[in-house]
Amino acid sequence: MAPTSYQICVLPGDGIGPEVIDCARQVLEALKDTEDGPGFQFDEHLVGADAFEASGEAITDAVIDECKAADAVLVGAMDVARLPANARQPLRTLRQSLEVGASIRPARTFAGVEARCDHIDTLVVREVTEGIYSGIEYAAGPDAACSVRLITRGASTRTAKIAFAEAQKRRRKVTAVHKLGALKLTDSLFLEACRDVGKDYPDVEFETRNIDACALEMVRHPEEFDVILATNTFGDILSDIAAGLACGLGLAPSGCVGERWAYFEPVHGTAPDIAGKGIANPLAAILSAALMVRHLGELKSADRIEQAVEAVLAAGAPRTGDLGGDAGSAEVRDAVLAELASS
Ligand code: NAD
Ligand code: IPM
Ligand code: MN
Repeated sequence: MAPTSYQICVLPGDGIGPEVIDCARQVLEALKDTEDGPGFQFDEHLVGADAFEASGEAITDAVIDECKAADAVLVGAMDVARLPANARQPLRTLRQSLEVGASIRPARTFAGVEARCDHIDTLVVREVTEGIYSGIEYAAGPDAACSVRLITRGASTRTAKIAFAEAQKRRRKVTAVHKLGALKLTDSLFLEACRDVGKDYPDVEFETRNIDACALEMVRHPEEFDVILATNTFGDILSDIAAGLACGLGLAPSGCVGERWAYFEPVHGTAPDIAGKGIANPLAAILSAALMVRHLGELKSADRIEQAVEAVLAAGAPRTGDLGGDAGSAEVRDAVLAELASS
């Protein structure tokens, strides 16, 4: 039987995005030399702030069509803070166009990596197409501006279904996060949608928590949390907290999944403070590539990548600066490649 080959659309983005995505690409390419490993063909496109400065467009419809035509999409990071208010926001455009149901963001402790807690193994399931980041913003006179927090039953239901399905594969608990005291209409609707979905999952425990109390409890007792189901902004913040408790942004992967399309990206941004120096931790991008490989159904290869990363971390070196080492991205990538070759 001919080996499977996948077409991957790659959007390296800005800052450290291209540096870490190049490492992830090399790891994916190395899979073809492992037993039953698939092949990959990559098709790269410029998106983000550099693309905007070069062409006046941060993302084009043609790139979105390429993403839809590919088997999966791998994204670096985009310096969206550098974009002017009138530019098309590329991450939101991607998430809305690919009809992403949720960004799934695992955070867990790794053997050999010092964490800020004894144990955490959570999955933040975050709505990423609406909420305060819906893009509905306007000036309300010279001294006021308004952002609309759009919450719909459709998007909330879509995200909740992903959260409950993921919980069934894990420790069967979903914590939905809200601020009902302040956001009466939007968060009642969100929680109602979550509860309705929960009725189809009687084996999954369901609880709700206020966002502020939830953030506190995550720091104090992170082991209590399994799946955290959140609207866009709350999930954005809680996924960084979970990553910070577990291991830092350098090890935090994510996948934006929907019914038809999916794309994968590290949780971190473009890290302007270290970009261009070759010292970014490539493991979040490599672990995001592993999530992509798992999503494509290549479970053995996904396990291989994750085990290679775990072995490098357990060995204690090489490590990038964020994990207390002094290695460059290339050394860490090569250590993962060496583990993969011997697996
Ligand atoms: P950031 O995640 O880029 O950086 C925060 C801190 O973490 C910095 O000190 C950085 O050096 C460090 N860091 C991040 N990734 C690292 C890695 N792989 N290895 C080692 N250290 C790492 O967040 P920021 O500075 O707030 O944002 C910078 C830009 O990135 C902004 O324009 C922001 O909007 C954008 N951003 C994009 C995405 C995305 O494209 N998915 C996500 C987050 C932020
Ligand atoms: C993320 C990022 C983005 C988001 C920003 C850069 C718009 O922080 O993916 O976590 O929250 O949507
Ligand atoms: Mn974020």
